[in-house]
Formats: sequence, C-alpha cells, structure tokens
Amino acid sequence: MSQQFDVVVIGGGPGGYVAAIRAAQLGFKTACIDATSSADGKPSLGGTCLNVGCIPSKALLQSSENYHHAVHSFADHGISTGAVKMDVTQMLKRKEEIIAKNTGGIAFLFRKNKVTSFHGTGSFKGRNGDKYMLEAKLADGKLEAIEATHVIVATGSSVRQLPGVTIDNKLVLDNEGALAIPAVPKRLGVIGAGVIGLEMGSVWKRLGADVTVLEAMPTFLGAADEQVAREALKFLTKETGLVINTGVKIGEIKVSKKDVTVNYTDAAGAEHKAVYDKLIVSIGRVPNTAGLNADTVGLKLNERGQVEVNDDCQTSLPNVWAIGDVVRGPMLAHKASEEGVAVAERIAGQHPHVDFGTVPWVIYTSPEIAWVGKTEQQLKAEGVEYKKGQFLFSANGRALALGEAKGFVKMLADKKTDRILGVHIVGPYASELISEAVVAMEFSASSEDIARIVHAHPSLSEALHEAALGCDGRTLHS
Ligand code: FAD
Ligand code: NAI
Repeated sequence: MSQQFDVVVIGGGPGGYVAAIRAAQLGFKTACIDATSSADGKPSLGGTCLNVGCIPSKALLQSSENYHHAVHSFADHGISTGAVKMDVTQMLKRKEEIIAKNTGGIAFLFRKNKVTSFHGTGSFKGRNGDKYMLEAKLADGKLEAIEATHVIVATGSSVRQLPGVTIDNKLVLDNEGALAIPAVPKRLGVIGAGVIGLEMGSVWKRLGADVTVLEAMPTFLGAADEQVAREALKFLTKETGLVINTGVKIGEIKVSKKDVTVNYTDAAGAEHKAVYDKLIVSIGRVPNTAGLNADTVGLKLNERGQVEVNDDCQTSLPNVWAIGDVVRGPMLAHKASEEGVAVAERIAGQHPHVDFGTVPWVIYTSPEIAWVGKTEQQLKAEGVEYKKGQFLFSANGRALALGEAKGFVKMLADKKTDRILGVHIVGPYASELISEAVVAMEFSASSEDIARIVHAHPSLSEALHEAALGCDGRTLHS
C-alpha cells in the first residue's frame, strides 16, 4: 500500500526543503525524500548547501579570517597575543557543530510544518492516472511506495569530474574533501579559479598552505565586472597570497601514495610539472539526475543533463516541477529556494515570479566580491548607454575604522532614465551591502533614489550612497 501525498519533493537542499515547507504552509499534504546522511548515518537535511557547501565553507572562511587577523592585524590595534596557534581539529569540530545546528533546524521546521521526511533515495516508478508512483529506497534498505499528485525534483548537483583523475577525498578532493582537510597541507593545488577554488584556496592559504590555482580560461572571473575582477585578482594574489595561473591546459595527473603531480601547459605554452600534497578539483558542478529513473516516466533532460524546465519550473510532464541546481540558471542556494517557494505557490494557483535579473552573486573572499545586474562589459555589448558612479572604501570612515578600507562600489545606471542597471562591489561586507542594491533594482530605483536616501553614518553603506551620487557627478567625499 502506498503512502499518498499532494506534493512530494525529491531532494532536501535549499531548493527542496524550502519548497516542502512552503507547500505545507499552503495546506498541501507534503513529503520530502532526501538521501543525505550525517557521518553517523542519520538524516541530514539541507543538501549540499548546509552539509558540504555554503554554510561549512563560510564557517571555515570565518575561522581562517580570525586566525589571519590575530596574526596580521591585532598588533595594529595594540593587541599582543604571543604566538598564535591554529588548531585545525577544533576548527573542523566547530564547522561540524554549525552544520548540525543548521540541519537539525530543518528537521525541526519539517516537524513544525508537518512535512513527512523520508531518509533515502527517491525515484519515479510510473504513473497511475494523473498520479505519480514513486519509490523511496530508505537508508535502512526498506522500500517505501509513495503516490503523489505533484512532484518537485530538487536533486541538486555534484562536482564535475576532471577526466583522468579519481576524487578520493584523501589526496584529490572535491568540495566535501576541501572542507575537511585534517591538517594544513604544505602545498595545495586547486584546479578551477571559480567560486569554490577562490573560497577554499583562501581558507587554506590563510592557515599557511602554499596555494596554486590553475584556471583554464585566459581571463579571471569572467562572469564578474572586468574592473571588479581586476581589483579582486590584485588583492587575492598580492594580499591573500594565492598564486593564480590563468590560461592553463591541464595534462596528465598522477596520484602517488603521498602526493599528486599535475602536468600542465601555461598560457605561454611552457610545460610544468607541479607536485601538491592535496589537490582540490573545483571545475563546476553537474546536475544530479542519475538516480531518478527519469526515463520511466519520460521526464525530459536537456543536452547539459539538466531537467528541462520552462520559466515557471514546469518540466515536460504535467504536475512535475524541477528547481535549483538540477535546472538551468545560476547554481546558488538563494535561487534554488526562491524557485522552491514559487513552485509551491504555483501549485496553489498563485502567480509568483523569480527575477533572475536581480539575483545577487557573492564570493566570500577577502575582500568580498558581490554584484547584481549587468556588468559594464555586458552593457557595452548590448549597446546600452549608461553612466557610472564609483566610490573607494579608502574614503569611507567605517571601512577605515574596521581596518578594511579596500576596494570600491560601482553603480551603473541608464544614461537617459537613470534606472540602476547594475551594482558591483569589491570590499568589506560586500555580501551584506549588495542587498540594498537588490532591493533598489527590484523596485526599479534610479541612482537618484539611492542618492536621496539617508544612510547611517558611519557605515559601509555610505559607499553605495556615494556611488549613487557619483552617477550624477556629485560624490561628496572624493
Ligand atoms: P542541493 O543543495 O545539492 O540538494 C540536493 C539534495 O538532494 C541533496 O541532499 C542530495 O543528497 C539529494 N538527492 C539527490 N538525488 C536524490 C534522490 N534521487 N533522492 C533523494 N535525494 C536526492 N550557493 C550560495 O548561494 N552561496 C554560497 O555561499 C554557496 N557556497 C557553496 C560552497 C560550496 C563548497 C558548494 C559546493 C556550493 C556552494 N553554493 C553556494 C551552491 C549551493 O550549495 C547550491 O546552489 C545549492 O545547494 C543548490 O540547492 P539544491 O536544493 O538545488 O540542491
Ligand atoms: P565555477 O563555475 O564557479 O568555476 C569553475 C572554474 O573552473 C571556472 O573558472 C572554469 O573556467 C574552470 N575550469 C573548468 N574546467 C577546467 C579545467 N579542465 N581546468 C582548469 N580550469 C577549469 O565552479 P565551482 O567553483 O566548482 O563552483 C560550482 C558552483 O557552486 C558555482 O557555479 C557557484 O554557483 C556555486 N558556489 C557558490 C558560492 C557562492 O555563492 N559564494 C561558493 C561556492 C560555490
């Protein structure tokens, strides 16, 4: 006998668990099937983000930044500490505690909202009229038959493998291994100068590793505004101390018992043989669809292996939806969650909309990098006439007091209408500052709107205010 639900979500990451909570709030009998387990085999909701992604990486970034401050900047404040030591085991324990609090929080929210949780792998078994027959292979080996009116596929993504090398999470690491290195490696290689490579490279560099990042593209951070990418590259190489080689071609990789040798050709065509104690592979992620049995019901995948969806996250099948990393669009937790909310509301007959044009991007390096909307190079390519205002954090009182007076805020606005088209920040707490720009853009604000809003003094947000004033050539403090 199968258990029957109005909505069944497959995958309990930030897309799936949020979709399940919202569906339950809207009165649907809801279940979520999620495969992720904690080290002791218990359910661990929250997907990649909470278990091996956003949250643990930010925990390690904070620990390593604190260590870096203790070693490098406490003396400026008149604080002497004696020799500063790093206990990596304690750092990893703290990270695990933060994960447990977060994942336990989702289990609590499921109970509170009466979402039934199945711990195991979900797959399609077939159709019964307008219902979908699913199966959950539970962690204890039992099979659970489930019938659903609506199915939301939220199975997320996994690391893209580099041909010719196997990730063992001992010497060759994916995100999971990179977040759990038991002792600071002397020589750390990173393949891919994307978001994971830069964040994880920063963590281990701050703790003392020699970190070399090997990037295939000739340009650094191609998706970011070029000026921001240039400034970030300067800080990450000169201050953080990452060695970043762009335009490389990775050749043979040999793994021995104690190290990894990477053969590569640099941008100038010279051959290199580099030996690392650990190697992180962070060359992007691929959608998780293998376990779904998509063929059984005819669920269509696209040429990139993603579940094919329209703008409303509807798949090729009626009442089957897909969200988050398993579909097109940015692979970001907040994008997955907003799609989850929107799908639950669409099932309830509402008409929500997720605006991809105002999804913020944040890279949690030091300084942080954040942006929303169009870059200068995009506006130029599209032939849009724009004006720009820019303000350096070196002229911001709060940034100076923080000892973080690096980088800038740049605002781009339409030349004729003054509507804000993009905001780009490299600097302290860019992750928090970008929210003002997101709200402004969602409300179709002009740069003048921001210029006329009272911003607290002293605050980092004054840099955004000044950048807005700058769009009209009237910054006050530069
Ligand atoms: P996921 O979080 O991947 O969750 C999918 C879940 O489905 C998993 O629990 C998986 O086990 C489960 N699953 C898969 N197949 C099945 C099946 N057949 N049956 C049952 N369960 C299944 N994004 C940000 O926005 N900010 C960040 O700071 C950030 N940092 C990151 C750091 C790292 C190191 C990584 C790897 C990613 C980071 N991301 C970040 C990206 C973010 O983690 C993803 O975009 C987000 O987790 C996608 O959510 P999702 O719900 O689509 O999928
Ligand atoms: P990514 O797409 O950000 O970067 C991958 C990089 O690897 C690219 O620069 C690419 O050119 C390079 N690359 C690809 N193949 C290569 C090869 N063979 N040799 C050398 N370089 C190669 O992917 P990443 O860093 O793995 O992260 C995956 C996703 O996770 C990101 O798309 C991002 O959306 C998300 N994420 C978000 C974070 C955040 O929001 N702060 C933090 C970490 C991850």
